Amino acid sequence: MAKDTISIINNSTGERAEYPLLKGSAGTPVADIRKIHQDLGFFTYDLGYVSTASCKSSITFIDGNKGILLYRGYPIEDLAANCTFIETAYLLMKGHLPTEIQLAEFNDAVNYRSAIHEGLIRLFQSFNHDSHPMAMMVGVVASLSAFYHSELDINNLQHREICATRLIGKLPMIASLCYRHSVGRPVVYPRADLEYCENFMNMMFSRPEEQSFITKGHYLDPVAIKALNLLFILHADHEQNASTSTVRLAASTGANPYACMAAGIAALWGPAHGGANEAVLSMLEEIGTVDNIEKYINKAKDKNDPFRLMGFGHRVYKNFDPRAIIIRDVCHEVLAHKEELGPLFELALALEQYALNDDYFIERKLYPNVDFYSGLIYKALNIPVDMFTVMFTIARTAGWAAHWLEMMASPVRPIGRPRQLYEGSEKRDFVPIARRGK
Ligand code: SDX
Repeated sequence: MAKDTISIINNSTGERAEYPLLKGSAGTPVADIRKIHQDLGFFTYDLGYVSTASCKSSITFIDGNKGILLYRGYPIEDLAANCTFIETAYLLMKGHLPTEIQLAEFNDAVNYRSAIHEGLIRLFQSFNHDSHPMAMMVGVVASLSAFYHSELDINNLQHREICATRLIGKLPMIASLCYRHSVGRPVVYPRADLEYCENFMNMMFSRPEEQSFITKGHYLDPVAIKALNLLFILHADHEQNASTSTVRLAASTGANPYACMAAGIAALWGPAHGGANEAVLSMLEEIGTVDNIEKYINKAKDKNDPFRLMGFGHRVYKNFDPRAIIIRDVCHEVLAHKEELGPLFELALALEQYALNDDYFIERKLYPNVDFYSGLIYKALNIPVDMFTVMFTIARTAGWAAHWLEMMASPVRPIGRPRQLYEGSEKRDFVPIARRGK
Protein backbone atom coordinates (compact mmCIF):
# COMPACT_ATOMS: atom_id res chain seq x y z
CA MET A 1 0.00 0.00 0.00
CA ALA A 2 1.37 3.43 -1.01
CA LYS A 3 2.05 5.57 2.09
CA ASP A 4 0.15 8.64 0.89
CA THR A 5 -3.12 6.71 0.77
CA ILE A 6 -5.81 5.49 3.12
CA SER A 7 -7.54 2.11 2.89
CA ILE A 8 -11.23 1.73 3.68
CA ILE A 9 -12.76 -1.71 4.20
CA ASN A 10 -16.49 -2.38 4.18
CA ASN A 11 -16.55 -5.06 6.87
CA SER A 12 -20.09 -6.11 5.94
CA THR A 13 -18.93 -7.11 2.44
CA GLY A 14 -15.16 -7.44 2.85
CA GLU A 15 -14.68 -4.97 -0.04
CA ARG A 16 -11.76 -2.55 0.34
CA ALA A 17 -10.52 0.46 -1.59
CA GLU A 18 -7.57 2.86 -1.35
CA TYR A 19 -7.83 6.61 -1.64
CA PRO A 20 -5.15 9.29 -2.02
CA LEU A 21 -4.21 11.31 1.07
CA LEU A 22 -3.76 14.83 -0.28
CA LYS A 23 -1.36 17.12 1.57
CA GLY A 24 -1.65 20.92 1.29
CA SER A 25 1.09 23.50 1.95
CA ALA A 26 0.01 23.51 5.64
CA GLY A 27 -2.60 22.02 7.92
CA THR A 28 -4.56 18.76 7.96
CA PRO A 29 -4.26 16.36 5.00
CA VAL A 30 -7.50 15.29 3.27
CA ALA A 31 -8.58 11.88 2.04
CA ASP A 32 -9.94 12.17 -1.51
CA ILE A 33 -12.94 9.87 -1.15
CA ARG A 34 -14.96 11.22 -4.08
CA LYS A 35 -15.27 7.69 -5.55
CA ILE A 36 -16.23 5.92 -2.32
CA HIS A 37 -19.91 5.48 -3.30
CA GLN A 38 -18.92 4.12 -6.72
CA ASP A 39 -16.26 1.79 -5.18
CA LEU A 40 -17.82 0.62 -1.91
CA GLY A 41 -21.52 1.48 -2.24
CA PHE A 42 -21.94 3.88 0.69
CA PHE A 43 -21.90 7.60 1.46
CA THR A 44 -19.97 9.27 4.29
CA TYR A 45 -22.02 11.03 7.00
CA ASP A 46 -20.67 14.26 8.54
CA LEU A 47 -23.44 16.33 10.18
CA GLY A 48 -22.30 19.96 10.28
CA TYR A 49 -19.29 19.12 8.07
CA VAL A 50 -17.07 18.79 11.15
CA SER A 51 -14.49 16.70 9.26
CA THR A 52 -15.23 17.50 5.62
CA ALA A 53 -13.09 19.56 3.25
CA SER A 54 -15.43 21.04 0.66
CA CYS A 55 -12.79 22.51 -1.64
CA LYS A 56 -9.12 23.38 -2.18
CA SER A 57 -8.27 27.01 -1.40
CA SER A 58 -5.20 29.28 -1.15
CA ILE A 59 -6.86 32.22 0.56
CA THR A 60 -6.97 31.69 4.34
CA PHE A 61 -5.34 29.23 6.71
CA ILE A 62 -6.49 28.54 10.27
CA ASP A 63 -4.80 26.36 12.88
CA GLY A 64 -7.49 26.03 15.56
CA ASN A 65 -5.23 24.49 18.19
CA LYS A 66 -2.41 27.02 17.81
CA GLY A 67 -4.71 30.03 17.26
CA ILE A 68 -3.12 30.79 13.89
CA LEU A 69 -4.94 32.82 11.19
CA LEU A 70 -3.15 33.65 7.90
CA TYR A 71 -4.57 35.64 4.96
CA ARG A 72 -2.59 34.55 1.87
CA GLY A 73 0.20 33.45 4.25
CA TYR A 74 0.41 36.72 6.23
CA PRO A 75 -0.32 36.46 10.01
CA ILE A 76 -3.48 38.34 10.98
CA GLU A 77 -1.46 40.14 13.67
CA ASP A 78 0.83 41.70 11.03
CA LEU A 79 -2.05 42.74 8.78
CA ALA A 80 -3.99 44.16 11.74
CA ALA A 81 -0.96 46.22 12.80
CA ASN A 82 0.09 47.51 9.36
CA CYS A 83 -2.75 47.50 6.81
CA THR A 84 -6.05 49.14 5.99
CA PHE A 85 -9.14 47.09 5.17
CA ILE A 86 -8.93 47.96 1.47
CA GLU A 87 -5.29 46.80 1.35
CA THR A 88 -6.40 43.55 3.02
CA ALA A 89 -9.30 43.13 0.59
CA TYR A 90 -6.81 43.52 -2.29
CA LEU A 91 -4.56 40.86 -0.72
CA LEU A 92 -7.44 38.41 -0.27
CA MET A 93 -8.74 38.89 -3.81
CA LYS A 94 -5.43 39.16 -5.73
CA GLY A 95 -3.21 36.88 -3.61
CA HIS A 96 -0.43 39.42 -2.98
CA LEU A 97 0.01 42.71 -1.13
CA PRO A 98 -0.40 45.71 -3.47
CA THR A 99 2.34 48.15 -4.41
CA GLU A 100 1.58 51.80 -3.69
CA ILE A 101 0.38 52.30 -7.28
CA GLN A 102 -1.73 49.13 -7.25
CA LEU A 103 -3.32 50.16 -3.94
CA ALA A 104 -4.07 53.67 -5.23
CA GLU A 105 -5.65 52.23 -8.39
CA PHE A 106 -7.72 49.74 -6.34
CA ASN A 107 -8.84 52.49 -3.95
CA ASP A 108 -9.95 54.58 -6.95
CA ALA A 109 -11.77 51.61 -8.54
CA VAL A 110 -13.61 50.86 -5.28
CA ASN A 111 -14.44 54.53 -4.72
CA TYR A 112 -15.62 54.88 -8.34
CA ARG A 113 -18.15 52.11 -7.72
CA SER A 114 -19.22 53.19 -4.22
CA ALA A 115 -22.47 55.01 -5.09
CA ILE A 116 -25.56 52.90 -5.80
CA HIS A 117 -28.21 53.25 -8.53
CA GLU A 118 -31.00 55.70 -7.61
CA GLY A 119 -33.49 52.88 -8.23
CA LEU A 120 -31.84 50.90 -5.43
CA ILE A 121 -32.12 53.92 -3.13
CA ARG A 122 -35.85 54.06 -3.89
CA LEU A 123 -36.09 50.36 -2.95
CA PHE A 124 -35.50 51.37 0.68
CA GLN A 125 -38.76 53.33 0.64
CA SER A 126 -40.65 50.03 0.42
CA PHE A 127 -39.19 48.77 3.74
CA ASN A 128 -40.81 49.53 7.10
CA HIS A 129 -38.71 51.92 9.20
CA ASP A 130 -38.29 49.13 11.78
CA SER A 131 -37.29 46.42 9.28
CA HIS A 132 -34.19 44.62 10.56
CA PRO A 133 -31.14 46.03 8.73
CA MET A 134 -30.02 42.51 7.77
CA ALA A 135 -33.40 41.91 6.09
CA MET A 136 -32.80 45.06 4.02
CA MET A 137 -29.19 44.02 3.28
CA VAL A 138 -30.24 40.62 1.93
CA GLY A 139 -32.93 42.18 -0.27
CA VAL A 140 -30.92 45.08 -1.64
CA VAL A 141 -27.73 43.09 -2.33
CA ALA A 142 -29.74 40.43 -4.18
CA SER A 143 -31.33 43.28 -6.17
CA LEU A 144 -27.95 44.51 -7.42
CA SER A 145 -28.32 42.05 -10.31
CA ALA A 146 -31.61 43.77 -11.21
CA PHE A 147 -29.70 47.01 -11.80
CA TYR A 148 -26.22 45.88 -12.84
CA HIS A 149 -27.14 43.16 -15.33
CA SER A 150 -24.33 43.94 -17.75
CA GLU A 151 -20.86 42.57 -16.95
CA LEU A 152 -22.39 39.41 -15.46
CA ASP A 153 -20.58 36.85 -17.59
CA ILE A 154 -18.95 34.69 -14.88
CA ASN A 155 -16.63 33.22 -17.51
CA ASN A 156 -15.25 36.68 -18.34
CA LEU A 157 -12.31 37.60 -16.03
CA GLN A 158 -12.84 41.34 -16.49
CA HIS A 159 -16.56 41.02 -15.62
CA ARG A 160 -15.65 38.98 -12.53
CA GLU A 161 -13.21 41.61 -11.29
CA ILE A 162 -15.72 44.41 -11.94
CA CYS A 163 -18.44 42.55 -9.97
CA ALA A 164 -16.09 41.86 -7.04
CA THR A 165 -14.88 45.49 -6.92
CA ARG A 166 -18.47 46.75 -7.27
CA LEU A 167 -19.53 44.65 -4.26
CA ILE A 168 -16.66 45.93 -2.10
CA GLY A 169 -17.47 49.47 -3.20
CA LYS A 170 -21.24 49.46 -2.77
CA LEU A 171 -21.68 47.63 0.52
CA PRO A 172 -20.90 50.66 2.75
CA MET A 173 -23.53 52.87 1.09
CA ILE A 174 -26.13 50.07 1.18
CA ALA A 175 -25.28 49.45 4.85
CA SER A 176 -25.50 53.14 5.73
CA LEU A 177 -28.91 53.37 4.03
CA CYS A 178 -30.19 50.46 6.15
CA TYR A 179 -29.48 52.66 9.16
CA ARG A 180 -30.54 56.03 7.73
CA HIS A 181 -33.85 54.60 6.50
CA SER A 182 -34.54 53.27 10.00
CA VAL A 183 -34.03 56.73 11.53
CA GLY A 184 -35.68 58.70 8.74
CA ARG A 185 -32.54 60.57 7.64
CA PRO A 186 -31.78 61.59 4.03
CA VAL A 187 -29.16 59.90 1.88
CA VAL A 188 -25.53 60.95 2.23
CA TYR A 189 -23.44 59.93 -0.77
CA PRO A 190 -19.88 58.63 -0.77
CA ARG A 191 -17.13 61.20 -1.32
CA ALA A 192 -13.98 60.95 -3.43
CA ASP A 193 -11.88 62.70 -0.75
CA LEU A 194 -12.58 60.19 2.05
CA GLU A 195 -11.02 56.73 2.52
CA TYR A 196 -13.22 53.65 2.77
CA CYS A 197 -13.97 53.63 6.51
CA GLU A 198 -14.25 57.43 6.67
CA ASN A 199 -16.78 57.32 3.82
CA PHE A 200 -18.80 54.72 5.69
CA MET A 201 -18.90 56.71 8.92
CA ASN A 202 -19.69 59.90 6.99
CA MET A 203 -22.59 58.20 5.17
CA MET A 204 -23.84 56.81 8.48
CA PHE A 205 -23.77 59.86 10.73
CA SER A 206 -23.26 63.12 8.86
CA ARG A 207 -25.91 65.37 7.28
CA PRO A 208 -26.16 66.47 3.61
CA GLU A 209 -25.81 70.13 4.58
CA GLU A 210 -22.46 69.38 6.28
CA GLN A 211 -20.79 67.94 3.19
CA SER A 212 -19.34 71.19 1.79
CA PHE A 213 -17.41 72.00 4.96
CA ILE A 214 -17.05 68.61 6.58
CA THR A 215 -14.65 68.52 9.48
CA LYS A 216 -13.14 65.45 11.05
CA GLY A 217 -16.08 65.36 13.41
CA HIS A 218 -16.58 62.79 16.15
CA TYR A 219 -17.64 60.21 13.58
CA LEU A 220 -14.38 60.70 11.65
CA ASP A 221 -12.33 60.53 14.85
CA PRO A 222 -9.01 58.86 13.88
CA VAL A 223 -9.33 56.43 16.82
CA ALA A 224 -12.74 55.35 15.50
CA ILE A 225 -11.51 55.03 11.90
CA LYS A 226 -8.48 53.00 13.02
CA ALA A 227 -10.72 50.71 15.08
CA LEU A 228 -13.13 50.26 12.16
CA ASN A 229 -10.33 49.35 9.75
CA LEU A 230 -9.11 46.80 12.30
CA LEU A 231 -12.56 45.26 12.85
CA PHE A 232 -13.09 44.96 9.09
CA ILE A 233 -9.63 43.35 8.65
CA LEU A 234 -10.30 40.80 11.41
CA HIS A 235 -13.72 39.91 9.98
CA ALA A 236 -12.66 39.93 6.30
CA ASP A 237 -12.27 36.19 5.83
CA HIS A 238 -12.23 32.94 7.75
CA GLU A 239 -11.76 29.92 5.48
CA GLN A 240 -14.86 27.77 4.83
CA ASN A 241 -17.18 29.16 7.53
CA ALA A 242 -20.95 28.73 7.15
CA SER A 243 -21.59 31.89 5.11
CA THR A 244 -18.57 31.44 2.84
CA SER A 245 -19.57 27.83 2.21
CA THR A 246 -23.06 29.12 1.35
CA VAL A 247 -21.59 31.56 -1.17
CA ARG A 248 -19.53 28.74 -2.71
CA LEU A 249 -22.52 26.40 -2.91
CA ALA A 250 -24.63 29.07 -4.62
CA ALA A 251 -21.72 29.91 -6.95
CA SER A 252 -21.37 26.24 -7.93
CA THR A 253 -24.73 26.53 -9.76
CA GLY A 254 -23.43 29.43 -11.88
CA ALA A 255 -25.64 31.99 -10.13
CA ASN A 256 -24.55 35.62 -10.51
CA PRO A 257 -22.19 36.98 -7.81
CA TYR A 258 -24.77 39.36 -6.30
CA ALA A 259 -27.20 36.47 -5.73
CA CYS A 260 -24.37 34.40 -4.23
CA MET A 261 -23.40 37.20 -1.83
CA ALA A 262 -27.05 37.64 -0.80
CA ALA A 263 -27.11 33.93 0.08
CA GLY A 264 -23.98 34.46 2.18
CA ILE A 265 -25.57 37.44 3.95
CA ALA A 266 -28.62 35.34 4.81
CA ALA A 267 -26.38 32.64 6.33
CA LEU A 268 -24.25 35.15 8.23
CA TRP A 269 -27.38 36.60 9.90
CA GLY A 270 -27.83 33.57 12.19
CA PRO A 271 -26.94 34.11 15.89
CA ALA A 272 -24.68 31.03 15.85
CA HIS A 273 -22.57 32.78 13.17
CA GLY A 274 -22.36 36.46 12.29
CA GLY A 275 -25.41 37.38 14.37
CA ALA A 276 -23.41 36.57 17.51
CA ASN A 277 -22.00 40.10 17.95
CA GLU A 278 -25.52 41.54 18.21
CA ALA A 279 -26.46 38.64 20.53
CA VAL A 280 -23.43 39.32 22.79
CA LEU A 281 -24.58 42.89 23.50
CA SER A 282 -28.15 41.73 24.15
CA MET A 283 -26.76 39.04 26.47
CA LEU A 284 -24.54 41.51 28.40
CA GLU A 285 -27.46 43.91 28.77
CA GLU A 286 -29.66 41.01 29.99
CA ILE A 287 -27.01 39.87 32.52
CA GLY A 288 -26.77 43.51 33.65
CA THR A 289 -24.39 43.21 36.59
CA VAL A 290 -21.42 41.10 37.70
CA ASP A 291 -23.63 39.62 40.47
CA ASN A 292 -25.78 37.89 37.81
CA ILE A 293 -22.86 36.20 36.03
CA GLU A 294 -23.05 32.92 37.96
CA LYS A 295 -26.77 32.57 37.20
CA TYR A 296 -26.18 32.96 33.46
CA ILE A 297 -23.12 30.70 33.42
CA ASN A 298 -25.32 28.01 34.99
CA LYS A 299 -28.02 28.63 32.36
CA ALA A 300 -25.37 28.19 29.63
CA LYS A 301 -24.37 24.85 31.19
CA ASP A 302 -27.95 23.60 31.62
CA LYS A 303 -28.80 21.23 28.73
CA ASN A 304 -32.49 21.93 29.27
CA ASP A 305 -31.94 25.65 28.81
CA PRO A 306 -31.46 26.89 25.19
CA PHE A 307 -29.32 29.78 26.51
CA ARG A 308 -25.73 29.73 25.26
CA LEU A 309 -22.94 32.13 26.13
CA MET A 310 -22.87 34.29 23.02
CA GLY A 311 -19.35 35.15 21.88
CA PHE A 312 -17.95 31.93 23.33
CA GLY A 313 -16.90 28.80 21.48
CA HIS A 314 -15.84 28.17 17.94
CA ARG A 315 -15.99 25.24 15.57
CA VAL A 316 -12.28 25.56 14.75
CA TYR A 317 -10.48 27.55 17.47
CA LYS A 318 -10.08 25.27 20.48
CA ASN A 319 -7.62 27.33 22.54
CA PHE A 320 -8.10 30.95 21.58
CA ASP A 321 -9.37 33.05 18.67
CA PRO A 322 -6.38 35.24 17.68
CA ARG A 323 -8.83 37.90 16.53
CA ALA A 324 -10.35 38.10 20.02
CA ILE A 325 -6.89 38.72 21.51
CA ILE A 326 -6.28 41.61 19.08
CA ILE A 327 -9.75 43.07 19.57
CA ARG A 328 -9.59 42.87 23.39
CA ASP A 329 -6.59 45.20 23.42
CA VAL A 330 -8.23 47.68 21.03
CA CYS A 331 -11.34 47.63 23.20
CA HIS A 332 -9.41 49.23 26.04
CA GLU A 333 -8.17 52.02 23.72
CA VAL A 334 -11.54 52.79 22.13
CA LEU A 335 -13.63 52.48 25.29
CA ALA A 336 -11.28 54.83 27.16
CA HIS A 337 -13.29 57.65 25.51
CA LYS A 338 -16.60 56.08 26.50
CA GLU A 339 -17.23 56.22 30.23
CA GLU A 340 -20.79 54.96 29.90
CA LEU A 341 -19.55 51.75 28.28
CA GLY A 342 -17.14 51.14 31.12
CA PRO A 343 -19.56 48.98 33.17
CA LEU A 344 -20.51 46.92 30.08
CA PHE A 345 -16.83 46.34 29.27
CA GLU A 346 -16.04 45.53 32.90
CA LEU A 347 -18.95 43.06 32.87
CA ALA A 348 -17.56 41.49 29.67
CA LEU A 349 -14.11 41.11 31.26
CA ALA A 350 -15.60 39.61 34.44
CA LEU A 351 -17.77 37.19 32.42
CA GLU A 352 -14.74 36.17 30.37
CA GLN A 353 -12.67 35.48 33.48
CA TYR A 354 -15.50 33.55 35.15
CA ALA A 355 -16.05 31.32 32.08
CA LEU A 356 -12.32 30.77 31.51
CA ASN A 357 -12.06 29.37 35.05
CA ASP A 358 -15.15 27.17 34.89
CA ASP A 359 -14.60 23.43 34.27
CA TYR A 360 -17.53 23.19 31.83
CA PHE A 361 -15.97 25.77 29.51
CA ILE A 362 -12.42 24.51 30.05
CA GLU A 363 -13.36 20.89 29.25
CA ARG A 364 -15.16 21.97 26.07
CA LYS A 365 -12.41 24.43 25.11
CA LEU A 366 -14.91 27.30 24.92
CA TYR A 367 -13.03 30.61 24.70
CA PRO A 368 -14.09 34.12 23.67
CA ASN A 369 -14.33 34.39 19.88
CA VAL A 370 -14.04 37.44 17.64
CA ASP A 371 -17.64 38.46 18.35
CA PHE A 372 -17.29 38.64 22.12
CA TYR A 373 -15.62 42.07 21.96
CA SER A 374 -16.46 43.38 18.48
CA GLY A 375 -19.96 44.45 19.53
CA LEU A 376 -18.55 46.58 22.36
CA ILE A 377 -16.33 48.48 19.93
CA TYR A 378 -19.19 48.97 17.46
CA LYS A 379 -21.33 50.30 20.32
CA ALA A 380 -18.50 52.69 21.23
CA LEU A 381 -18.58 53.91 17.61
CA ASN A 382 -22.31 54.65 18.03
CA ILE A 383 -23.27 51.84 15.66
CA PRO A 384 -26.78 50.61 16.66
CA VAL A 385 -26.83 47.01 17.95
CA ASP A 386 -29.09 45.76 15.12
CA MET A 387 -26.44 47.03 12.65
CA PHE A 388 -23.62 44.89 14.11
CA THR A 389 -24.08 41.98 11.70
CA VAL A 390 -24.33 44.49 8.84
CA MET A 391 -20.83 45.61 9.86
CA PHE A 392 -19.70 41.98 9.73
CA THR A 393 -21.27 41.77 6.24
CA ILE A 394 -19.27 44.74 4.90
CA ALA A 395 -16.04 43.11 6.06
CA ARG A 396 -16.83 39.55 5.02
CA THR A 397 -17.78 40.67 1.50
CA ALA A 398 -14.02 40.89 0.86
CA GLY A 399 -13.62 37.21 1.79
CA TRP A 400 -16.74 36.11 -0.08
CA ALA A 401 -15.53 37.98 -3.17
CA ALA A 402 -12.08 36.36 -2.88
CA HIS A 403 -13.56 32.85 -2.59
CA TRP A 404 -15.98 33.52 -5.46
CA LEU A 405 -13.11 34.74 -7.68
CA GLU A 406 -10.99 31.72 -6.69
CA MET A 407 -13.84 29.37 -7.49
CA MET A 408 -14.72 31.03 -10.82
CA ALA A 409 -11.04 30.85 -11.87
CA SER A 410 -10.94 27.09 -11.20
CA PRO A 411 -11.28 24.85 -14.26
CA VAL A 412 -12.98 22.25 -12.00
CA ARG A 413 -16.30 23.64 -10.70
CA PRO A 414 -18.84 20.84 -10.14
CA ILE A 415 -22.26 21.78 -8.75
CA GLY A 416 -22.40 21.14 -5.00
CA ARG A 417 -24.88 18.34 -4.36
CA PRO A 418 -24.53 16.47 -1.02
CA ARG A 419 -26.35 13.15 -0.42
CA GLN A 420 -28.24 11.93 2.69
CA LEU A 421 -29.13 9.06 4.99
CA TYR A 422 -32.84 8.50 4.23
CA GLU A 423 -34.99 7.72 7.31
CA GLY A 424 -38.43 8.31 5.81
CA SER A 425 -41.22 5.89 4.84
CA GLU A 426 -40.47 2.98 2.57
CA LYS A 427 -42.54 2.75 -0.64
CA ARG A 428 -46.27 2.43 0.25
CA ASP A 429 -49.59 2.26 -1.65
CA PHE A 430 -51.54 5.47 -2.27
CA VAL A 431 -54.87 5.78 -0.38
CA PRO A 432 -57.56 8.06 -1.91
CA ILE A 433 -58.95 10.63 0.53
CA ALA A 434 -62.38 8.96 0.54
CA ARG A 435 -60.78 5.87 2.14
CA ARG A 436 -58.60 7.65 4.73
CA GLY A 437 -61.27 7.83 7.45
CA LYS A 438 -62.29 10.99 9.29
C1 SDX B 1 -18.39 33.16 14.05
O1 SDX B 1 -16.83 29.32 11.37
C2 SDX B 1 -16.30 30.47 11.53
O2 SDX B 1 -15.15 30.70 11.21
C3 SDX B 1 -17.22 31.52 12.12
C4 SDX B 1 -16.58 32.87 12.40
C5 SDX B 1 -16.15 33.55 11.12
O3 SDX B 1 -15.29 34.43 11.21
O4 SDX B 1 -16.77 33.25 10.06
O5 SDX B 1 -15.45 32.71 13.25
C6 SDX B 1 -17.56 33.84 13.06
O6 SDX B 1 -19.43 32.67 13.70
C7 SDX B 1 -17.86 33.02 15.46
C8 SDX B 1 -18.84 32.17 16.35
C9 SDX B 1 -19.95 33.11 16.80
N1 SDX B 1 -21.03 32.34 17.47
C10 SDX B 1 -21.22 32.46 18.81
O7 SDX B 1 -20.49 33.10 19.57
C11 SDX B 1 -22.48 31.73 19.30
C12 SDX B 1 -22.15 30.90 20.56
N2 SDX B 1 -21.29 29.78 20.16
C13 SDX B 1 -21.93 28.51 19.88
O8 SDX B 1 -23.11 28.64 19.15
C14 SDX B 1 -20.93 27.48 19.34
O9 SDX B 1 -19.82 27.56 20.11
C15 SDX B 1 -20.51 27.52 17.88
C16 SDX B 1 -21.71 27.44 16.96
C17 SDX B 1 -19.73 28.74 17.60
C18 SDX B 1 -19.61 26.30 17.62
O10 SDX B 1 -20.38 25.19 17.87
P1 SDX B 1 -19.79 23.71 17.57
O11 SDX B 1 -18.35 23.71 17.28
O12 SDX B 1 -20.70 23.10 16.57
O13 SDX B 1 -19.86 23.00 18.99
P2 SDX B 1 -21.15 22.42 19.59
O14 SDX B 1 -22.30 23.34 19.33
O15 SDX B 1 -21.28 21.02 19.11
O16 SDX B 1 -20.77 22.47 21.15
C19 SDX B 1 -19.88 21.51 21.74
C20 SDX B 1 -20.22 21.54 23.23
C21 SDX B 1 -21.71 21.28 23.49
O17 SDX B 1 -21.82 20.76 24.80
P3 SDX B 1 -21.90 19.11 24.99
O18 SDX B 1 -23.03 18.64 24.07
O19 SDX B 1 -20.55 18.61 24.58
O20 SDX B 1 -22.20 18.93 26.46
O21 SDX B 1 -19.95 22.85 23.74
C22 SDX B 1 -21.18 23.43 24.17
C23 SDX B 1 -22.30 22.66 23.49
O22 SDX B 1 -23.50 22.72 24.24
N3 SDX B 1 -21.15 24.83 23.73
C24 SDX B 1 -21.58 25.85 24.47
C25 SDX B 1 -21.31 27.00 23.69
N4 SDX B 1 -20.75 26.64 22.52
C26 SDX B 1 -20.66 25.29 22.55
N5 SDX B 1 -22.16 25.92 25.68
C27 SDX B 1 -22.47 27.17 26.13
N6 SDX B 1 -22.24 28.33 25.45
C28 SDX B 1 -21.66 28.26 24.24
N7 SDX B 1 -21.44 29.40 23.55
